[in-house]
Amino acid sequence: MANTIPDIPLNDGNTIPQLGFGVFQIGPKDTAEAVGRALEVGYRHIDTAEMYGNEAEVGEAIRTAGLGRGEVFVTSKLNNGFHRPDDARKAFESTLSALRMDYLDLFLIHWPLPTRYDGDFVSTWQALEEFRRDGRARSIGVSNFQVAHLERLAAEADVVPAVNQIEAHPYFGNEEVRAYDRQHNIVTQAWSPIAQGRVLDDPTVVDVAEQVGRTPAQVVLRWHLQRGDIVFPKSTTPKRIEENFHIFDFTLDAVAMEQISGLDRGEAGRQGPNPDEFDYVPS
Ligand SMILES: NC(=O)c1ccc[n+]([C@@H]2O[C@H](COP(=O)([O-])OP(=O)(O)OC[C@H]3O[C@@H](n4cnc5c(N)ncnc54)[C@H](OP(=O)(O)O)[C@@H]3O)[C@@H](O)[C@H]2O)c1
Repeated sequence: MANTIPDIPLNDGNTIPQLGFGVFQIGPKDTAEAVGRALEVGYRHIDTAEMYGNEAEVGEAIRTAGLGRGEVFVTSKLNNGFHRPDDARKAFESTLSALRMDYLDLFLIHWPLPTRYDGDFVSTWQALEEFRRDGRARSIGVSNFQVAHLERLAAEADVVPAVNQIEAHPYFGNEEVRAYDRQHNIVTQAWSPIAQGRVLDDPTVVDVAEQVGRTPAQVVLRWHLQRGDIVFPKSTTPKRIEENFHIFDFTLDAVAMEQISGLDRGEAGRQGPNPDEFDYVPS
């Protein structure tokens, strides 16, 4: 079986590679090297954010690899301090200029921040609708949106987000939000897909990995793929960057899928903050 990465269709007619490379917590100094390594291995989808402070180095790595702009799917995200529409417009321009690109494949609102900005994330979303209309964002989406936030966009805005990027891994299935996404033609992207390493020595995961002759990280990433979600594991370790890429040449049977899904701890399994409460705005 060849290791071919499927393109997932989005609700706006575009497509996105199901596997990408995440660069959260990679310092600017190490980013160009890690992304360069990932591109060499074959990743063609990079997930960054203004908050990560490494957009410029992501752009640099893509140029250094000699790849054309159309060959790599690039996502970035609006930082929490820029939700007012005028700030969002400026922040989007800064993101494009840091990456030295004239368009993004996907631009997301990083967090809904329902307790900030008088609870208004709709006008922020309408700014992203402008970026899509003028072609500088091919697709737009949200991140960390809960069902109530998505319902509000559905009632008050024109464009349905193409993706919702949310925390999801075996300890936190995030099923309610995933179900809403699925029912409304929104693709789910699973962030921290291996729970930053926390799920990898779980006995069930180790057991499934032994049965299929793969590593724990590979079986967890494979579990996400078979659920239909998009993943972009982060690593600065060359061997792991390679390992995480080879997840399309084996499958998990229904029993293995259920065993891993059975590890869900509900809210207690969250690694990151609860989006209903998270209100961090960088100073
Ligand atoms: N939208 C959001 O709010 C949000 C939040 C968090 C993350 N994200 C996105 O999701 C991406 C992935 O999430 P994440 O970076 O939090 O966590 P992750 O991908 O679940 O885990 C990364 C950690 O696992 C280790 N690792 C990677 N591959 C491994 C392997 N094969 N075997 C053992 N350990 C391995 C890495 O170590 P080494 O680097 O040392 O190899 C790193 O410590 C981010 O980079 C970012 O793009 C988005």
